[in-house]
Amino acid sequence: MPVSPELFVAGMRLHAAGVTVVTTLHEGRPAGLTATSVCSVSAEPPQLLVCVNRAAEANAPIRASGRFCVNVLAADQRALADRFAGRSGQFGAERFSGCSWTRLVTGAPVLEGCRAAFDCRLVNAVEAGTHTIFVGLVEAVAIRPDLAPLVYHEGEYGLVAQLPV
Ligand SMILES: Cc1cc2nc3c(=O)[nH]c(=O)nc-3n(C[C@H](O)[C@H](O)[C@H](O)COP(=O)(O)O)c2cc1C
Repeated sequence: MPVSPELFVAGMRLHAAGVTVVTTLHEGRPAGLTATSVCSVSAEPPQLLVCVNRAAEANAPIRASGRFCVNVLAADQRALADRFAGRSGQFGAERFSGCSWTRLVTGAPVLEGCRAAFDCRLVNAVEAGTHTIFVGLVEAVAIRPDLAPLVYHEGEYGLVAQLPV
């Protein structure tokens, strides 16, 4: 029996995941989207992947620029997650207005106030269903372990609670 899209989505909604904003800079124009589909691939060499819908406006700029940054959001950055998911009606470079960003090595935008930033050079792009799997070689990392993480679960943002020992 093939698995229906509804059942697949119902299952994936139970997968709690950290929230990221994936950014790029192509021909001077920043672009980005909110993404939970980020995964570590390899530590030596350091590589990660992110799955980006082919219809997302940041897909083509990531491919064309050959660089992207995975910005891991902190607990107080829900508004940024909504903005980069297109939920506040902002598109393209508009999504970056009013938020400070810097650069590390590749030049992809590094958003301020995030828990971690993985600055990547694109090394592989694989088409899979509706999405492109972008594999990045991590050229720089910035970390803020003092900040709490933002997670997404059952269609809602949430926080991480420690289990009692
Ligand atoms: C919490 C959350 C996680 C998401 N994760 C992904 C993802 O991993 N990959 C993806 O392509 N879209 C993901 N999306 C959807 C995109 O953020 C959103 O559809 C996209 O930015 C809208 O398209 P646009 O950027 O072309 O406006 C996610 C949205 C939310 C709210």
